[in-house]
Amino acid sequence: MTTADAKRVDTILKGREGASGELIEALQDIQDAFKYLPEEALRSVSEKMAVPLIEVFRVANYYKAFTLQPRGRHLLTVCMGTACHVRGAPRFLDEVLGQLDIKPGETTEDGDFTVETVNCLGACALGPVVVLDGKYHDHMTAGKLRALIQGTLSKKAKKTGDR
Ligand code: FES
Repeated sequence: MTTADAKRVDTILKGREGASGELIEALQDIQDAFKYLPEEALRSVSEKMAVPLIEVFRVANYYKAFTLQPRGRHLLTVCMGTACHVRGAPRFLDEVLGQLDIKPGETTEDGDFTVETVNCLGACALGPVVVLDGKYHDHMTAGKLRALIQGTLSKKAKKTGDR
């Protein structure tokens, strides 16, 4: 972590010294700031909030929302639960992974996309369901997902072109 990153962590932890009951909130704030939980940040959390490091790692590993690996600018979550699975999720998951040239849980080399799978997104009747950057997309198909990813990439290209 850079000095600036360490300062961001200090700011997040300010006022939470010894407040072990706020561990999850602090981890959420760090994840929001960095898009993942850097190890050094977890060490600061342990030290400042007076929570044993093993407990900080246990909580960080327990909740699916937390990640210890840096994520891409866009997070695509594909539901592979039974309802979505039987409606074709594996087919478009394979296609999107091939298109982005990554495996589930990985991030593209350019840092654009991370693709993760989950076992249910709580919207089974609308399956197959994917979530892109926090937005739910239901009744997904290979074509719709291709268009969604293409649309996200074109927005980036447009932004870069606008500069
Ligand atoms: S199985 Fe996909 S939303 Fe429940």
